[in-house]
Amino acid sequence: MKSPIAVVVLAAGAGTRMKSALPKVLHPLANLPMVAHVLANAAALKPSRIVGVIAPGATAVAEAFAPHPTVVQSKPLGTGHAARAALGVLQGHEGPVLVVFGDAPLVTTQSLRRLVAACGKARAAVGVLGFTARDPSPYGRLIVEGGELVKIVESKDADAAERAVDFCNSGVMCIDGRLIATLLGAIRNDNVKREFYLTDAVRIARAAGHKAIAVAGEEAEFQGINSRVELAVAEQALQQRLRQAAMIGGVTMTDPGTVWLSADTKFGTDVTIGPNVRFGPGVSIGADTVIKAFCDIEGVRVGRGAIIGPFARIRPGSEVADDVHIGNFVELKATRMGRGAKANHLAYLGDADIGTGSNIGAGTIAVNYDGFGKHRTVIGPDVFIGSNSSLVAPLKVGRGANVTAGSVVTEDVPADALAFGRARQVTKKGRASALRAKLRDRAAAAKRAATERSGKN
Ligand code: UD1
Ligand code: CA
Repeated sequence: MKSPIAVVVLAAGAGTRMKSALPKVLHPLANLPMVAHVLANAAALKPSRIVGVIAPGATAVAEAFAPHPTVVQSKPLGTGHAARAALGVLQGHEGPVLVVFGDAPLVTTQSLRRLVAACGKARAAVGVLGFTARDPSPYGRLIVEGGELVKIVESKDADAAERAVDFCNSGVMCIDGRLIATLLGAIRNDNVKREFYLTDAVRIARAAGHKAIAVAGEEAEFQGINSRVELAVAEQALQQRLRQAAMIGGVTMTDPGTVWLSADTKFGTDVTIGPNVRFGPGVSIGADTVIKAFCDIEGVRVGRGAIIGPFARIRPGSEVADDVHIGNFVELKATRMGRGAKANHLAYLGDADIGTGSNIGAGTIAVNYDGFGKHRTVIGPDVFIGSNSSLVAPLKVGRGANVTAGSVVTEDVPADALAFGRARQVTKKGRASALRAKLRDRAAAAKRAATERSGKN
């Protein structure tokens, strides 16, 4: 039987370069806190435990880790010191322990799995994921001899020869659970930065006769996030992955680079997405649905075969059934649209329930707010709402009713009723030319009066 894996996520660093009141690991990527990506990728390994190492008082970070436990590193004395804080939680754990950073959210499950497997195969006490860096200067250098990792030298402690090495430490380390307490316990801070380096575990393991290895990966995966510039770079990388996964899963994107997804966006097959569409959190889109250009969609389950946009906005708490049409400049908020219902142009439907097959005319407003509270509009199936109508909630419109165009509807409309909520039109035959003559005479008189005044001056 394979020994279970434990994962330690280091997240106690100060993150000062973010210049933010929000802890670094809580800054969002694809609408999820950075650390949630790290946790999701680690959780996919089905580890027996995950533990976070956080700074004192970082309760919001602890909440982001929940239900996983966190331990507090009393002072940020280095990565080795941070990992040591987790030893209590790791007691009795004999399998591999993966140490990862909370600010490196692009590391894939696949790479973590590869490292654990390589360590098992080589019977290594310590393994690290390494990469060839375009610019190695900020990283620890991996010194490899005869296929084994001999030591990791931090940039500031490296001599000229070591600085010339471009094979670098990603920060992801796998340590044998039976040895971790001894190895971390032996780390000292006798270096330039006076920090307890986790990377010293390699040298210590070797000195005790154990083996260490380095497994190569892609630099793009190991980008840490220290500033908002790097946050934006990571967001792009993550979006790229999410778009590719969607397309591989059967989604057509006309211009993928302009489609913004959330980590939890779900698509059925043969969904088509036009350019410049943003998906906020909590969206699932059913098969064969078409989302045209410039839509903003959040917190909604959309059924199959729907047509949405261009320029539609769907806000959280909505539900859109199969074959619904939502057209340009239509906004939905906490609104349910039944199967085949249509709102094709210029409408605000807030806190509304639109029955199956009903048609909402251009310019319709579900007037849901009276300045104090929100109220619901409930429209039955097969209702016709004429253009430019205001439906003043709370309101019920029964099955098959017809609300005439331009109505302000303040009273419930029973099933099959025809409702007029507007002034009756008055038409006066032949009066248009009479009005024109009157207005013409008035304008001429005004002009004459003005000329007389200027003559006197
Ligand atoms: C670390 C590695 C370096 C590697 C680089 C990759 C060490 C000594 N160095 O350097 O070899 O190339 O990552 O990006 O490990 N943290 C704590 N408590 C602390 C210090 C750090 O929790 O006391 C956490 C931070 O929140 C962060 C992570 O550990 O998530 C890495 O710390 P950081 O100071 O950025 O390490 P580097 O100097 O970049
Ligand atoms: Ca770093």
